[in-house]
Amino acid sequence: MRFDILTLFPEMFEALGASMTGRAVKDGIVSFNVVNIRDFADNKHKRTDDYPFGGGRGMLLMPQPLFDAMESVKADNKRVIYMSPRGRIIDREYLEELASEEELVILCGHYEGVDQRVLDRWNAEEVSIGDYVLTGGELPAMVLIDAVTRLLPGVLATPEAAVEESVYSGLLEAPQYTQPREYDGIPVPEVLLSGDHRRIHLWHFEQSLLITKQRRPDLFEAYVRDHGELDKQERRILETIIET
Ligand SMILES: C[S@@+](CC[C@H](N)C(=O)[O-])C[C@H]1O[C@@H](n2cnc3c(N)ncnc32)[C@H](O)[C@@H]1O
Repeated sequence: MRFDILTLFPEMFEALGASMTGRAVKDGIVSFNVVNIRDFADNKHKRTDDYPFGGGRGMLLMPQPLFDAMESVKADNKRVIYMSPRGRIIDREYLEELASEEELVILCGHYEGVDQRVLDRWNAEEVSIGDYVLTGGELPAMVLIDAVTRLLPGVLATPEAAVEESVYSGLLEAPQYTQPREYDGIPVPEVLLSGDHRRIHLWHFEQSLLITKQRRPDLFEAYVRDHGELDKQERRILETIIET
């Protein structure tokens, strides 16, 4: 999958060379073409912003550098995303839809945003990472890219891991423990050392339900309504937690 990223701060995307996205690049699963919008400014001082018509605070990215940058990545034939707090908030469904694309263009805003004509010309989808405002679209773009890349085949060692995690599975993850069995006088729950896979599964299930009910009642309600098939013991655990 190829990402064309249009930004005023290309150096921020060096972070994609680390960890999972870096491995996905080495494995040829994703590629990043980071384009500096400023390189396309056709004025003497390489200015990319100007005051908004009609007043208002701050500055806006001007159309000219953005039109030229978009054309340089042949955005006409690609799906274009503009990172924006006005946009649709990303969720699993939307990420899976994006993961099925071969190419995406991601436009990162700055200042108070971009001239609307750019968004209209390329029919850009506005996409938000949450109901808060950041200084620029770079960090939101990296959040989107990381979340999409995790869903691509071959990126995670166990593909089912991508959908078994908190939220995606419909429940939050149960507490996890690693070596040693006891640390600073605090032991790992006995059940996890029992080797009894059935007991361990039921413990994880119960803990997931408890944490989800406590922290995300919205997810818990949805799970109670829409859960898939449960066996007798799982059903009993769920019923007990609904009643408590
Ligand atoms: C300071 S913000 C501009 C906010 C804009 N004036 C508004 O009220 O919608 C600058 C840029 O950061 C990015 N940005 C900020 N918050 C974001 C969010 N929650 N999700 C995605 N992008 C965001 C956008 O690209 C935006 O153009």
